Amino acid sequence: MRLRPVEVTDTGAVLAALASTELLWLESPTNPMLGVVELRPILAAPSRAGVTTVVDNTFATPMSQQPLAWGADAVVHSASKYIGGHSDLLLGAVITAEEDRRASLLAHRTLQGAIPGVMESYLALRGLRTLPLRFAQQQRTAQELAERLPGHPAVTSVRYPGLGSDPNHDRARAQMSGFGAIISFVVADAETADRLTGALELIVGGTSLGGVETTIDRRRRWPGEEAVPAGLLRPSVGLEHPEDLWEDLQHALSSSINI
Ligand SMILES: Cc1ncc(COP(=O)(O)O)c(C=O)c1O
Repeated sequence: MRLRPVEVTDTGAVLAALASTELLWLESPTNPMLGVVELRPILAAPSRAGVTTVVDNTFATPMSQQPLAWGADAVVHSASKYIGGHSDLLLGAVITAEEDRRASLLAHRTLQGAIPGVMESYLALRGLRTLPLRFAQQQRTAQELAERLPGHPAVTSVRYPGLGSDPNHDRARAQMSGFGAIISFVVADAETADRLTGALELIVGGTSLGGVETTIDRRRRWPGEEAVPAGLLRPSVGLEHPEDLWEDLQHALSSSINI
């Protein structure tokens, strides 16, 4: 199998690639730029016939977006994120609408030996019970912080699909019932971003996301993220009080530019 990267937010490019594709792997919103893929028209496109489509729905969760209803063959989640919800679990989930596909995946998983541990399964099921409540509050707080961030002089730009000014707002409104709890914002450069994360007291530095505690990561520090702005920070908004989070962010933003 040959892997061919396509800019998934460019609907025309995705549709053009379908002609010579066996499997289309989409992610929306995207990590870490928070681009929104036009899932509905892509999944409904006539040229999609015969192409297996998989949507990584980790950022949206089933609470905000349900691609199986629009024809996706499979949805995948990092259950380590919102489903577990407490940053204490490593697990993935595949959901399909068709029984035949489920049976074949199940057989493959069983024969290959990727069986989830009992503890992991328990933690995922326990997390699922509070997912709707956690995610609703995390989305509310994310919206609040995303609206405040552009007002700080250290912030160059903010991406959050829930902002009316976001280039993906209309797309997100058309297919999501909530805008998620991940924000991306950019500060001047890597040094400013690192000063900022070093000054945080409540928000935890870390690359994982979707937990009850707010985590933040400078994505460009990772190999393979060369296309990401050096000063891009990606907070995953947790369940702390919104004012406590804003106080921490505001203080660290100001420290990063010495004001
Ligand atoms: C959208 C998305 N999908 C999948 C993964 C992989 O998750 P895991 O760490 O559970 O392998 C991540 C990790 O950050 C992610 O952000």
